[in-house]
Amino acid sequence: MAAVEVAGLRKVYRGGLRRRERRALDGLDLVVAPGEVHGFLGPNGSGKTTTLRILLGLVRPDAGEVRLLGRPVPAELAGAVPEIGSVVEAPRFFPSFSGRRNLDLLARVAGLEPARVDEALEIVGLADRARDRVKGYSLGMRQRLGIAQALMKRPRLLLLDEPTNGLDPAGIREVRRLMAHLASTGVTVLLSSHMLSEVQQICTSVTIVAQGRAVRTGTVDAVLAGDTAARVRLRVADPAAATAVLTEGGLTVAHQDDWLMVSGAVPSEVNRLLGERGIWADELGPDHADLEDVFLSLTQASQEIPPA
Ligand SMILES: Nc1ncnc2c1ncn2[C@@H]1O[C@H](COP(=O)(O)OP(=O)(O)OP(=O)(O)O)[C@@H](O)[C@H]1O
Ligand SMILES: [Mg+2]
Repeated sequence: MAAVEVAGLRKVYRGGLRRRERRALDGLDLVVAPGEVHGFLGPNGSGKTTTLRILLGLVRPDAGEVRLLGRPVPAELAGAVPEIGSVVEAPRFFPSFSGRRNLDLLARVAGLEPARVDEALEIVGLADRARDRVKGYSLGMRQRLGIAQALMKRPRLLLLDEPTNGLDPAGIREVRRLMAHLASTGVTVLLSSHMLSEVQQICTSVTIVAQGRAVRTGTVDAVLAGDTAARVRLRVADPAAATAVLTEGGLTVAHQDDWLMVSGAVPSEVNRLLGERGIWADELGPDHADLEDVFLSLTQASQEIPPA
């Protein structure tokens, strides 16, 4: 059973300026398997927040099916909610209360044991600073306090909208460590981001969304490798001899600075062809495509959402 299952989700926002309609979701499909840290990656305005709000029953879709932990939403939302932690709207905390006191209040409202507060603060690494006022917290600490609030109910599924927004590389690393830890304890995480590099660092699988539709989904490696033909780059002492051997083997070789670029092959195959002829490369490996380019090409033209 998938932790999140979304099929054919549609949402048009009506009203607003000059009563214009905005198509936020245009048949979105999304499947998150249990235990994944799944990135929901798309440019600004592609429908990420709308999707997460629909999952939480905060926005009603025009069409589509949603299941969370096997339960249809919104029909059985009440049954799913106790198992789902979320930070979708920027969480509000009382700035002059400590992080701990803020969570104590929220735990009391939710009817959770006080011990859950300490547990959550420990998991996000805020235990040391829990007695300080929230107004003295850094952005990263506030984000982690928000995640701690979501973790207090020991959720099986965590939904996070742009948890790395505004964080520096160290903060992103902390989020990555936290997500990996949660995944190791069996929590499924769905987190949105508009930054490819963050999803690459934090997530194991990804769905790329553009204009309210999923354009690609799978493991991070597979998705980001998907648009690039296999290429191998290598350096050898005698490029002419290597080129001859590889061309004879049916491969296409191009020269780029000091490197030979071999198309349509995997490294082991190139290695074997050369080794059989007694040619040993100084360096040889896959040529990683420019991942930013892959993302941009998949989401191109998505800055402009056409009217519904
Ligand atoms: N309450 C609303 N009323 C009208 N239009 C809305 C509303 N919320 C979102 N939209 C529109 O729906 C589209 C998708 O917005 P959404 O916030 O879901 O995108 P997003 O992927 O979260 O973007 P970002 O990366 O900027 O957070 C946008 O065109 C947005 O203007
Ligand atoms: Mg958003």
